[in-house]
Amino acid sequence: MRNDRLPAFQTFIADLRAIWSEETDTRRRMERGRDALERLVRDPELQRHSKSWPSTEGLKNLLLHTDDEHGFIVNAVVREPGRTGSVHDHADAWTAYGVCDGQEYVERYERLDDGADPEHAEIRRVSTTIGRAGVVDLVAPWAIHAEQGGGGRSAAVILRSQKLVGRVLQHRYDEQARTVKLGSGPTQIPYELTVA
Ligand SMILES: [Fe+2]
Repeated sequence: MRNDRLPAFQTFIADLRAIWSEETDTRRRMERGRDALERLVRDPELQRHSKSWPSTEGLKNLLLHTDDEHGFIVNAVVREPGRTGSVHDHADAWTAYGVCDGQEYVERYERLDDGADPEHAEIRRVSTTIGRAGVVDLVAPWAIHAEQGGGGRSAAVILRSQKLVGRVLQHRYDEQARTVKLGSGPTQIPYELTVA
């Protein structure tokens, strides 16, 4: 690990590594990981730093950390103002999604059909919550959701229980067309959070 990493981020990774060593259950790890992420995205230093992160428009994620020992991944996403997000799931992975700058909207959906047809899906939005800087959303495996941009630029840090891209395909839903298809997740762009 680099020694010029942002201190708040270094602490976050150390916290996660301790949690992964102490717990064996994925849900428990991610519940405690959510609390650690909440501390990170409330940190003023991290919040300031996130204003300089590059845009991830075009289905990209910044790849901030891959933990070779424990398998978890930390990503970041930077949305342009008014960006529309796709409705999707994260397959078998748990995800904690923490906004650190700006404002986003998290939509949750329920599936109405029985899933018998692999290309057909009927979904309905059941809630929309506002994610402001410091708010973390824990998303269970297979949960159908969308993250929508707010009126301005926004940034978020994402903790994933395990690697997704290159390991497993995720579902992408089209509510109007009533379709679902499998696809690969965001392109991973390595990016280090270093002290300026
Ligand atoms: Fe998501």
